[in-house]
Amino acid sequence: MKNFKVAIDGPAGSGKSTISKKIAAQLNFSHIDTGAMYRAVTLHAMNLGIDLSDEKNYDFLDEIEVLYLNNKILLNGIDVSKEIRDPEVTSKVSLVSSLKIVRDKMVDLQKKAASQGLVIMDGRDIGYNVLPDADLKIFLTASIECRALRRHKELPGSNLQELKEDLLKRDYADSNRKESPLKKADDALLLDTTNMTIDEVISYIICLILERMN
Ligand code: CDP
Repeated sequence: MKNFKVAIDGPAGSGKSTISKKIAAQLNFSHIDTGAMYRAVTLHAMNLGIDLSDEKNYDFLDEIEVLYLNNKILLNGIDVSKEIRDPEVTSKVSLVSSLKIVRDKMVDLQKKAASQGLVIMDGRDIGYNVLPDADLKIFLTASIECRALRRHKELPGSNLQELKEDLLKRDYADSNRKESPLKKADDALLLDTTNMTIDEVISYIICLILERMN
């Protein structure tokens, strides 16, 4: 079986997941949305009602199953793809994903899931931590105005200014935490998508993948 790994990293709203999903569909790769995995753990922890900031409360990690499959996130076999997008989950996910115990478990699952075949994985630490040997690494960025506007279009009824503040807050937390912060791998290609359409970004990355696969 041919192996090829693509790592896509970037801040919230940079388009990572949308772009990765579409590229995977066009090239027949499997897509793994690592943000969805951290969101699923956050949802589970919130449902348990634990103090989210205390690592000692995370023993449940040994008992739960978190699986990203066919564009769905399964938590103990149940599809929670909608629930993980709840604003409550979004507001807590940076805290939960900053814990070493959570990252160790998720990174282990992510490495195993990408060990074989054609894989595109998106997140914050994929290029330099989860898949340091990826065949192609891209770091996507876009201006904060553009990222907030993209989210605004996805979330009818949302407030643009609030979205902008939430994104900045999450970016700050994700970039400044101790455990595997949001960071560009040295050998990742920086792609500013502010003035690009989703389709332009997809075509550009597909060309890079095909060039490197041949
Ligand atoms: O889609 P969006 O940009 O809102 O974020 P996401 O990709 O769903 O990720 C949600 C959160 O999970 C991020 O804000 C990070 O706190 C965390 N995350 C992480 O720490 N490491 C990753 N590899 C992916 C996500």
